[in-house]
Parts: sequence; structure tokens; C-alpha cells
Amino acid sequence: MKRVVPILVGTLAVAAAVILSGVSAKAGAAPVVPTFTKDIAPIVYNKCTMCHRAGEVAPMAFMTYEDVRPWAKVIKTKVMAREMPPWGADPEHSLKFRNDRSLSRAEMDTIAAWVDGGAPRGNAADMPPAPKFAAGWTAGREPDVILEMPVDFAIPAEGELGVQMFYSKVPWSEDRFAETLEIRPGNRSVVHHAGVFVVDIPEGAHIDEHGRLVNAEGKASSDRGQGLAGRADVTALPGANKLLSWVPGRGVDQHRADIGKRIPAGKYINWQMHYNPNGRQTSDRSRLGIWFNRQQVTHELLIRQAGDALATTKGGLSLYRAEGKEVEYSADEGSTRRRSKTPDIPPYAEDWSLTGITPVTEDITLYAMSPHMHLRGKSLKWVIVYPDGREQTILDVPKFDFNWQIEYELEQPLKIPAGSKILGIGKYDNSPKNKWNPAPNLPVYWSEQSWDEMYQPFTLYSVDSQVLTDMTVTKQQ
Ligand code: HEC
Repeated sequence: MKRVVPILVGTLAVAAAVILSGVSAKAGAAPVVPTFTKDIAPIVYNKCTMCHRAGEVAPMAFMTYEDVRPWAKVIKTKVMAREMPPWGADPEHSLKFRNDRSLSRAEMDTIAAWVDGGAPRGNAADMPPAPKFAAGWTAGREPDVILEMPVDFAIPAEGELGVQMFYSKVPWSEDRFAETLEIRPGNRSVVHHAGVFVVDIPEGAHIDEHGRLVNAEGKASSDRGQGLAGRADVTALPGANKLLSWVPGRGVDQHRADIGKRIPAGKYINWQMHYNPNGRQTSDRSRLGIWFNRQQVTHELLIRQAGDALATTKGGLSLYRAEGKEVEYSADEGSTRRRSKTPDIPPYAEDWSLTGITPVTEDITLYAMSPHMHLRGKSLKWVIVYPDGREQTILDVPKFDFNWQIEYELEQPLKIPAGSKILGIGKYDNSPKNKWNPAPNLPVYWSEQSWDEMYQPFTLYSVDSQVLTDMTVTKQQ
């Protein structure tokens, strides 16, 4: 009895092999298992190694077969669940984006077939050259101007730091326009995320030698938790406008050659630094690289954040609806910005909605969108309602992830006529089902602290009629 078994198995194996080769011969192509060198390395180099390499954000490098092979099964799981690479836009309900780093269906299938086929190495000769990464600035050349944080900030070995706020003066005397901006953390091991804004400072306030804002009463703000108004809220500073942010995997904003981000003379650069101590006393001085537009800028790139008017020349203030009910405001006299009295998110609310409805009062061109919410953020969707009533979803992020503050840059800029409305439909999950939720039993307030909530459907656009003619262009070879 015992001897028969191996013979039977052997016979079956031979029979199976014959059947398989017969089928493939008829189909005209052998069912080849993809190999690492030929099929997988090109995908990994193109879509993964920007983060999965030594010194970068991901905890493991994927540069060689030896690096990747032990992760094969996990890679398949993460890739098929669309959890890697991080990219939140649902391709079926969104327009196309020029910075889309998600995998195509074909790439996903290739990875799955490689893993299912035993994740073979393949021929060494098929291996593509390893990608070269710029050691310095991503844009490939030195910036026209590098601005530094005003101080080398000391970070203790441990503890929790609030978001640190520093200010430095914009060092030119005429407004200038930036085509490309990049934040380079000074010390990657401690910079968790960073944001750079241009702001005015309140009357009577000044910046001290530590780069801190000191108000008219002489009280210095050190971090957002003890800011000017007890809870300093930078978007409440007059003229606040976001330049860009840095999070792992994001830190360069490259705009179109004829569209510029205005960096006005006389304003201040506000550095918002979030540090995670790494067990050793250390320091950081992050930098902002600026590449000016080299050709005539025709339009200024504007960023709309919640509470702003859209086209600032003609009003057009947003309405907000919380769970369907209109939200009240306290209007700031003479300002285009209003403070909404948004109700708290109740404890355990699982699918709490906040929708901003922004009237478009002039023809605009829309370039990019960037959802910003905090730990209860669940989803955010941009819908355009045209004057004829037609609705178009242009970006749907069904599973918002606080860890990835992604900017979605439209492949084709979108013309939106006056009379349209832009809806930003946000959902929040304050229930225990949300794995990031620190306290489902508590109501959630609106503030900049990550344990409170925010609703910021950042939208980048220009106003078609606002054509620039007299801006300073950096003339270079
Ligand atoms: C924008 C940066 C970024 C890109 C691009 C990226 N990853 Fe990741 N990846 C991370 C980070 C950060 C982590 C660790 C934190 C986490 O798991 O979310 C990670 C973790 C992983 C893990 C481990 C998950 C676990 O459970 O331990 C796998 C597998 C993975 N990535 C695969 C990939 C593959 C395959 C690609 C390309 C197709 C890719 N990643 C692209 C940043 C990135």
C-alpha cells in the first residue's frame, strides 16, 4: 500500500504537466510566471522606491531581489487592497491626475501572478538599472532662493511637542511668483510633518530673536497650543495663505510654467513644524527651496481653504451644512474670511457629515485639490454643480488617511464657469470602529490639534479674468 502512493503522485504530476503544456501550446503563449528582474523591478523602481529605500520614509528598502523577496506575500496583500502605494483617489469617481502614483490593474495583476508563482528571481540580464535619486533638491537643480527656518531648533530626546511655530520675514521688496516650491527637512529622523504659510502678523506684534511671534502685550507664542489667542490658529492670522506642506512622500509642489504662487513682499513665512523626538537630543533647521517662474506668469495660483471666499474680488462665501443643517457664522468685519460656528461631532457618531458649498462667482480654472482632515476624517469628495444643474464628481477620497496628506493635481486643468457651485462633502467617524480614534466617548471640537478636527478641502485655482501683466520674472539663461 505505502509504495503505491508515490507512484500515483508521480503519474498525476506528469499528466498535469502534459495537460498544461497542451493548453498553452493551443493558446499560442506559454503561461509564464513573471520574474523579479524582468517584470517586478520596473514596477517597484517606478512606484515604490521613492519611499522604499535607505534613509526614506518607509521602514524597509525595496532596491534588490533580496530586499523584496521576504515581503512578497505582504506586498501582494497591500497592493491588492490598494493600501500601497498610498493614494486615496477612487479612480472610478475621479478625474485623472498627473501625479497619480497608484498601480494600474495590469501592474497589480503582474505582482499577484509573480507572488502566486513563487516570486522567482529571473535572469540577471533582465534587471533594469537602479533608479538614481537626487541627493539634493528634487527639482534637479539648485533653487533660485533657499529660505531657512530662523533658528536651529533643539529637540529634546523625548516627550511630546506641540506644533512649533516660527516666523521669518519674506526677504524681498516686490512680490514674486514661485513655480516650484520644496521643503527639505533639516533632520528627517525627527520631522514628522511641516507646513509653510505666508502670513501677516497682527498690529503691534513682532518676531523675536528665536523666530517666535510676540504679541502687542509682549507674550510670545512658542507653539500652537499656547499661541496668541490662547489657541493660536494660523489661518486666523490676517492674510494667511498656505504655500505647501511636507509629509513623508510629499514636499514638492511643481506648478505650471505660466501659473505662479505669489510670495508677497512685506509678509512673513510661517513655519509650522511638528517634531517627534527620536530618543536622542538633537536639532532641526528645515529649509524651503523656491524656483521662480521663468516665463511670464499669466495667472496667480490661489488656494481656497475652508472659510475663504473663492474668487476674492466678488465675495462668494461658502455655506456649510453639518448633518444637513445650515451652519452659522460670526463674520469678521471687512474680511473675506468668516468663522463658522460648526457644531461639535457627537460622541460615537459614525458617519457625521460636513459639506461646504462654495459659489463660483467668476470663471475659474481649477488645478488641484488636497483634502485635509484629522484623525476622525473618513472621506472627502469634491463635486461640481454646473449652472445647468449637471453634477460632476472630480475627486473622491473614500477612505481618507490622515497619515497621507496627498495633493491631487489634475492632468487637465478644469474650467468652471461662474454660476457653478463647488461642494466639498466630508464625512467623519467618531466611533470606536475608527482605529485612529483616540476618544470615541468625547465630542470633537474644531481646532488645529490633531485630536480635534478640521475640514480643509484645499482647492488650487486661478481666476480667469485676473490676468497678470506686470509681475517680476526671474530672467536667467
Ligand atoms: C509615498 C511613500 C510610499 C510609497 C510610494 C510606497 N510605500 Fe509602501 N510603505 C510606506 C510606509 C511609510 C510604510 C510603513 C507604514 C505603513 O505600513 O503604512 C510602508 C509599508 C509597506 C509595506 C509593509 C506593510 C506592513 O504591513 O508591514 C509593504 C508591503 C509596502 N509598503 C509595499 C509597497 C509597494 C509594493 C509599493 C509600490 C508598489 C509601495 N509600498 C509604495 C511608504 C510608501
